[in-house]
This record gives sequence, structure tokens and C-alpha cells, in this order.
Amino acid sequence: MKLHYFISVLFLLQLQLVSGQGRAKIHFNENWHFTLQDHLGFRLSDGDAQAWESVELPHDWSIKAEFSAAYPAGNAGGALPGGIGWYSKQFKLPTADQGKNIQLYFGGVYRYAEIWINGVYLGKKPNGYLSFTLDLTPHLKFGNQPNRIAVRVDNSKQPNSRWYSGSGIYRDVYLIKTGPVRLDEQETFITTPEIHGELGQLKILSKLNKRSRSNGVAGKKYQITVWDPNGNLLLKKAGLEKDGHIDASLQVEKPQRWSPLAPNLYRVQLALLTENNTIEDQIEKRIGFRTIRFDAKTGFYLNGEALKIYGVCMHHDLGILGAAFNKSAAKRQLVMMKEMGANAIRTAHNPPAEELLDLCDEMGILVYNEAFDMWKKRKNKFDYHIDFPTEHLKDIEAWVRRDRNHASVILWSIGNEIREQFDSTGIALTQEMAKLVKSLDPTRPVTAALTENNYVKNFIAQAEALDVLGFNYKHEDYDKLPVEFKNIPLLASETVSALQTRGVYDRLHDTIQLWPASSKDKYVVNGNPDFTVSAYDNVAAYWGTSHEKAWLAVKNRPFLAGTFVWTGFDYLGEPVPYPYPARSSYYGIVDLAGIPKDVYYMYQSEWTDKDVLHLLPHWNWKTGDSVDVWAYYNKAEAVELFLNGKSLGTSAKTADRLHASWKVPFEKGELKVVKKRAGKIVQEASVRTATEAHAVKVSVEHEKYAAGESRDLYFVTAELVDQAGQSVLHNDQEIEFIVKGNAKVLGTDNGFQADLRGLHQPKRRTFKGKALGMIQKMVDTPCTVIISSALGDQQISI
Ligand code: GAL
Repeated sequence: MKLHYFISVLFLLQLQLVSGQGRAKIHFNENWHFTLQDHLGFRLSDGDAQAWESVELPHDWSIKAEFSAAYPAGNAGGALPGGIGWYSKQFKLPTADQGKNIQLYFGGVYRYAEIWINGVYLGKKPNGYLSFTLDLTPHLKFGNQPNRIAVRVDNSKQPNSRWYSGSGIYRDVYLIKTGPVRLDEQETFITTPEIHGELGQLKILSKLNKRSRSNGVAGKKYQITVWDPNGNLLLKKAGLEKDGHIDASLQVEKPQRWSPLAPNLYRVQLALLTENNTIEDQIEKRIGFRTIRFDAKTGFYLNGEALKIYGVCMHHDLGILGAAFNKSAAKRQLVMMKEMGANAIRTAHNPPAEELLDLCDEMGILVYNEAFDMWKKRKNKFDYHIDFPTEHLKDIEAWVRRDRNHASVILWSIGNEIREQFDSTGIALTQEMAKLVKSLDPTRPVTAALTENNYVKNFIAQAEALDVLGFNYKHEDYDKLPVEFKNIPLLASETVSALQTRGVYDRLHDTIQLWPASSKDKYVVNGNPDFTVSAYDNVAAYWGTSHEKAWLAVKNRPFLAGTFVWTGFDYLGEPVPYPYPARSSYYGIVDLAGIPKDVYYMYQSEWTDKDVLHLLPHWNWKTGDSVDVWAYYNKAEAVELFLNGKSLGTSAKTADRLHASWKVPFEKGELKVVKKRAGKIVQEASVRTATEAHAVKVSVEHEKYAAGESRDLYFVTAELVDQAGQSVLHNDQEIEFIVKGNAKVLGTDNGFQADLRGLHQPKRRTFKGKALGMIQKMVDTPCTVIISSALGDQQISI
């Protein structure tokens, strides 16, 4: 084809383009039925329909139960049940859909999902954390005849996890309709391989689906459209695919970079066109122009500039919701982390919901994306080690293909504290997986979170196949790392593991208590009989240390690219140091209900530029008690403490202490801390001796955490206050959340790790003066929420 002819064809093509039907991605979450029974006949029919419950996805059946020591998952698994459950859904398709390609996408099913359509078996997905897509096309009926999907979920073999997994179809499901010839989403890979000041290159690779390729469809037209971060049309380019392959490059002038401060996203649409230039299929991705680089001596660089990674590890549960994914609940966690100053999360220790990565792209949060917690060698009797031999390569492939278009993802981690690091089999496995990841995405480094910091004993490092090495804990040995592991970038992939219960203050601050003291000294040594742990930053698991010590160790070492604190939020399961009734973890900077512990403000004072001043503890003690008073602050030389107007002197942070501190003989009244700059007061924080609870102060968050979904949640916090409005921590009350109108109370929580009332219940006793209700409106009409307690009822409109 002569060049000028080709160009004019393309030009015409652009002019004539009209929107056809293209690809439809439809939420497929409503009108499912669920039963916690197992019968093979369910693949064909619901049988006794009475036993089935109507549910909406995402759905986690475990979280609907009451906590109990009897479940085989143990309190490490959240003291909640597993079991086998079935889901079914009937649906009709219009005759107009005949001839289309129709696929079903599952975001995640825990675990061993088996799927049937109209009685035909479609397959099995053992891995509980990866999304998968099934082709329904050959098995569908159209018009008035209903189709029926049946899904069997088997989470019966327990324990299979070191934390709470949840059970069921706990992430979103979509029906995807396209024309018979379509683009293969898994093969679509958009990169920005070169960015020079004025010019950014956008490279788009894709393929037609396998069937079209093997049917010899050839020379189809495609069109690429790019919109800038403000939504303005920026570029269009058309071309012809070759042998089912699309390989296109575009130049973007002065690309706006993606970063945590400015998460600029370009929208890219790749459309496949019919002969008549209507859209036959299209895939849209939002991409970011950004460069990443790790340096062995000086850490991480984003867009050419050094950036220390301020990261937190996050498990996938969302407290009250269990594992059931909800975008606004996830956004709430991320907003709180970002406001604290975190610029990164680690998805410990499994691939996240795809929607979580969308949020991280939008909010400018870097993601350390992790695949596995174990390989062939097990951590629990029934965990993924059983499936690893047959599944791990398929899973790695699905994971990288799904997530490689997200600007937020900066690292692929092939495992956490994998036992093969101590065994020579680790070498070949590391090489095999790292090679596969790189073949699917050469643009990002591959890492693993290790614990063995002696090179000759570490077979994962010896594979010499990773680009960055992550080390968990052992902060005293950090300086050994660059000597042992030469010329390779290093990261503190997991730090801290301090233990705290919000609002509890019972240990002296000047020693760090390791708890349990060693691996031999399991649990409940010196524990509190009420299963609380002091929230002064002074108690940690023996493999960890305090937040302050761990952060100082990373902060002061430029060769460490950053830190990932264990953990941003408390999570269900792993309630070290206690046995049951403790059932959720003590590690979070924020409690399970989403209420910050004091140490949140230590990070905020270190990781942000905001003026921070936070005073602890509460001021209700016995006269004569000697109380440790702490203040987290920044942007001042020192801060001054006053008790009932009398100065108790100034105190300042030191090289190895990130808070001001005083020992104060208790006296009723007001404790106040004052921060001055250039002689002028810039901030004050105070706490007064509270009397009995007099009222419930109610606050609602919605807009801030809205994720653009029709059913974004309302987070209602109830806080006890005395007559003068001071928070009351010592006089807890039972609160009931009641809704009137088209809304549901999804559950309640108070953040206490050993509270045994099921999280789905509408009633909750406050803990240290606070409780949270999670409310969902079913339709967008006004509803009333009543917050009821012995202190009276309060109504709010949502
Ligand atoms: C780490 C592990 C985490 C969690 C943590 C608790 O060793 O990687 O998953 O168990 O300990 O301190």
C-alpha cells in the first residue's frame, strides 16, 4: 500500500468512526442465591429453595457467624467458620446477544471455586485470591429461556491460612459481552517505555482472542484514543492488526507525570473496528507516565527523584465486612493511610482486588504487589502448598497480566518469608518465577520478602534472579545487608509488629517489652487478663520492635528504599500475643473499626508536612499516680506541657526518641501541650479529666470515602462524651444502630480485639468510648439512622 493512500484511509477511518455496541462489562452481583450446604445436585438446581438465602455479591459467609474457639481455623484464622457453600444465579439474555462472545469474570473466590453453566462444568480455581474469567458462549440460552450459574466454594479444609481469609464469592463478578471477534484483555499491555522531558512514548500491545486468531481473522482495523488527565481528547491513531497482533506506539507531548503528589492518569482506549468502522470491541485502561528505579546505595527513585517509601502492609479484610470487598470501605483505609503520610502499601501476602489497584492509581499510592505466602513448603496443613505444584505458574501469569497496566504497581513480590529460602530447592523456584514475571512485564523489578540475612544460607537470594531484596524485621542487622548482599537494592519489606489496643495505657514507657519473649515462650506470659495491650508504643512481638525504633532504623539508612510497617490496620486473625477470645490482630496503626491508635500521629509527624501535635494518655487516673505523658509533634524545637495552667517544662524528641515525654503526678483537671514557632503558639492539644458519659457524639463520613459506586457506605462513629464534651474512655455503653428506610446496617465494631459479638450485629458496646456502625443505602432516597443507647436516642439523616 502506498504511504499516502494508507494515510488517507486512516484519516477517513477516523472521520467516519461511529460508536458501535462494543464491549459491555456488566456488574453481575445481584440476585444470587446461597446455601451453606453441599450437594452435587446443586449444579443443576437449587433443590429445596427454602434452604437458600438471597444474597448480593461480594459476599463472605464466614463473617456472618459469631466468633467461637470451636472452628478449626483457630483464632489465628479469625475464630470464624469455613465450610462448603453453593451459589446460584438465574438470568436471561436477549436474543440480540446471540452470536456474541459472553464471559464471566470473578474477582476472587475463597477457595476452590467450581463453576457450572446450565449444568455444564466450566472448571475449577483453587487459588482464593486471583481473578479468573470463564467463557460461557457455547453453553448459553437466549430469549425466554433462563440460564443458571452454579458455583461451589470449598473452604472446608482448615487451617489453610495464617490470617482470616473469608469464604465465598467475596469480590465483584462481571458479565462481559463482546462481538465474536474480540480483543484479549490478558494480552493487552500498555507501557510508557521512554519519557524524556518533552515527549513520552506510549506503547500498546494487544492480541485478538485466540479463536479469532486461529480462525484466520486478518487485517482488522483498530483505533487508539487517548484522553489527558483532565478528560480532554488528546490523540487518536488508527492502524491494522497483523496476524491478530497489535503493536502500536504513540508520542504524547509534555506528558504529565504520575506520582503520589499528582496521580495523573491518561485514559487509553483500544478499539477494534468493523468494516463499517463501528466499534466491535474495546478495552480501556488508565495509565500513568512515570519512571521507577531502585539504587543499591541510595534507594528508590520516582520520575528521577529520590523518594523514601513510607509503606504499610495491609491484609485484605475490611473489618466488619470481613473479606467482602467494598470500594468505599477500601478507600476509607487508603485515605486514612495517605493522610497519615503513607505513600505505599504492600498487599500482604496475596494479590488484591483489582478495584483496590484502581484506587491506588487514582490516589497516588505505590503498590508492592505480592503473590504468595508459601510455595511448596507449607505454613499450614491445608494451605496453598497443596496447589502450588500445579497452579503457581498459571497463577503468576494471571496475576501479572491482570495488574501490569496499573501505574501504582512498582514491585512484584513472588513471596513472603518463603520456607524455600532455607532450602536449595529455593534457587530453581525463584529463577523460574522471576523469569516468568519478567517475560510478562519487563518494566518492574521482582522481589521477595526474606528473613534469612546470611547470603550463603539464603537460597532465594542465591538464585540471583531478583532485582530488589526485601528483608523482614531484624533491624539490628540492617548494616550487614549491603555487605552480605552486594550491589542489589534493599528494602525493609516488613517492620515493627508492635502490639496495641486503642485507648489502653498500662505499661511504663522506658522499656520495650517483647511479647512473647521468644519462640519457646508462647503467648500469655505477662498478658493482661482482659486481653488488652498497652497503646504506649512499647510492646512488640519478639521478632519486631517499637514503631519508633523500626522507623528510625530505616529513616537513617539511605540504602534502604523504604519501609512497610506491619500493619496499617488491625486485621481479623493472628491475635498475637493472646489465645482465644482474642480473634483479631493487635499490630495495626489503626484499629479494626478504623479508629487510629496514638502511634498514627507519630507517623503523621514524621511522614507529612502537616502541623501535628497529639497528646496521650487520657486524664482519668488516681491521685498520686505517676503517669507517663507523651506528645507526638513536628515542626518545632520542643513542646511545653501544662497541668491546670502550671508549666511542667518543655520536652523534645531526641536522636532515638520520636516523642516528647514527661512523668506527671496525677492531679485532676486539664493537661495541655503547647507548640510554639518563633515565640508564637501555633498549636495546642489538651485532655481533661472526664466525668461520667453524658451523651453520644455522632459523626458520619460518606463523601470523603465515596468511590463513585451507587452503594458507597456511610461510616457512623458514636463517641461517648461527658457533660462538658470531653471524650469518656472509662464508662462504656451499649449502642444500637437502627435504620429507617431503604438502608441496611452492615455491622458494627469497636476495635477491641477480643470483643466476641459477631461483627454483623447492629448492637455494640463502645470500647474506650467509641463504636462504629457501617450503613449502606439500598436506593438513593433519604434514610434515618438512630443511634440508640441508655443515654438517649439520636437521629441523623443520610
Ligand atoms: C511476619 C509475617 C506476617 C505476620 C507478622 C506478624 O513474620 O510475614 O505475615 O505474621 O510476622 O508479626
